[in-house]
Amino acid sequence: MKNTSPYYTRTAQVLHWIMAIIFIVAWIIGFYSGNFLSYETDGSFKGDVITLHKNIATTIIFLVMIRIFWRYTHPAPSLPDSMSPTMKVLAHLRHLALYLMLLALPITGCLFSWSAGHPAPVLYMFEIPRLLEENYDVLEIVKPLHIYLSWAAGLLVVGHIGAALKHHFIDKDGVLTSMTRQPK
Ligand code: HEM
Repeated sequence: MKNTSPYYTRTAQVLHWIMAIIFIVAWIIGFYSGNFLSYETDGSFKGDVITLHKNIATTIIFLVMIRIFWRYTHPAPSLPDSMSPTMKVLAHLRHLALYLMLLALPITGCLFSWSAGHPAPVLYMFEIPRLLEENYDVLEIVKPLHIYLSWAAGLLVVGHIGAALKHHFIDKDGVLTSMTRQPK
């Protein structure tokens, strides 16, 4: 299946921007808690901030599944002809890496929380069924994994935003507007 329109579908656009906001907010809160708060000096406030991080970030796991389904049933618009074949392949690989991060971060986050003996709550409404009991051997693996992945994902997202801005302001090729506009 090939998308002949220069624009993503409205559903794909809405999913993209909602997930972008959730990702950035979850990233900032996780970063703040992990690097600026400690249980010794901030006590229960740190616990509240981590709980907020989890309640926001777990939504990504549901949204990314819908997004992957939508992406396969509604292909993306073609990249501009002005891009070389190598640049197109690199762009696709970077998008694939972003999808993998959107899966890996909430999964390692949940494993992190469960293995430390805590739940994985969603929007303060319900919890993701626990797939793992408290386990410090697993915690030793998934905690650094979640932290390193969060940094790698942060860098990928910064590169993604930079590339989108380059397409818009330097190449002026409509790649950014394919995610913001609909045909008239
Ligand atoms: C897209 C989703 C997610 C993103 C972008 C994200 C990002 C981050 C970041 C940037 C950090 C701080 C890393 C550091 O210490 O430098 C962090 C820490 C953490 N994350 Fe996530 N995370 C996500 C999902 C989750 C989920 C779903 C959970 C659990 C249900 C979770 C649990 C935690 C915990 C417990 C910490 C440690 C916080 C602390 O030590 O104060 N994360 N995350």
